[in-house]
Amino acid sequence: MKAARTIGELRRLLQPFRTGSTIGLVPTMGAFHGGHIALFRAARATCDPVVASLFVNPTQFGDPADLAAYPRDEPRDVRIAEESGVDYLFAPSIDDMFPRGHATWIDVEGAALGLEGDFRPGHFRGVATVCLKLFTIVRPQVAFFGQKDVQQVAVIRQMVRDLNLELDIRVVPTVRDQDGLALSSRNVRLSAAERERALAIPRALGAGRAAYRLGRDAVAAARAALAGVEPDYVAIADFDGRPTLAIAARVGGTRLIDNIPLDER
Ligand code: PAF
Repeated sequence: MKAARTIGELRRLLQPFRTGSTIGLVPTMGAFHGGHIALFRAARATCDPVVASLFVNPTQFGDPADLAAYPRDEPRDVRIAEESGVDYLFAPSIDDMFPRGHATWIDVEGAALGLEGDFRPGHFRGVATVCLKLFTIVRPQVAFFGQKDVQQVAVIRQMVRDLNLELDIRVVPTVRDQDGLALSSRNVRLSAAERERALAIPRALGAGRAAYRLGRDAVAAARAALAGVEPDYVAIADFDGRPTLAIAARVGGTRLIDNIPLDER
């Protein structure tokens, strides 16, 4: 695996692959876990070369404390990426990605409105802008995202459609720990007691889906199962034609999101 620290360096490394190759991109903010490994493996199975970006994007964090607390462990990430079949790890500086004077932003409406869009104003503007920059720097044919961030996927798909980007977006199912908690870089911030309380989230999704299948109120069933966890929202939304039950909740100081497609077998 080769690492690139600058946009120029990555472009030079990818030059030989501009024709005849299928470049796969996995955009990440590091702190790798099994969810990232599933994305790398999905990319490895269909693309060559596989590029992963590792950039904690300051423009998608509304709260400076959240940005400061975001877990970072680059040496570990480098090891995991290499073991998971990544060919190029792109880890640029903030100055390279957002130099002084940067003044162009991607404001997606549609899919970005509601849910996370309401609770994290400006978040999707930061996500869409950094993803478009990554897409123009890497110029992948395929980009891989996790189902856990289902609204993010819908926002990226909306942008790809609206801006006529020649790019295939693939979605990889959420990876869960044995106890059902969706893997997230933020999980490391949970104390043992908080982690126990956080299990109410996957339980609530299961309860919601069971109710939905019986023709009952999925949101009410999920809310009832969320004991001890204060939700920002529990909602059914249509993401790319799939009714999906989505939850965002705070457990102690950590905000977690999770979802389950209701049409899933
Ligand atoms: O899902 C993430 O890790 C980030 O939102 C992304 C897509 C890498 C953009 O910074």
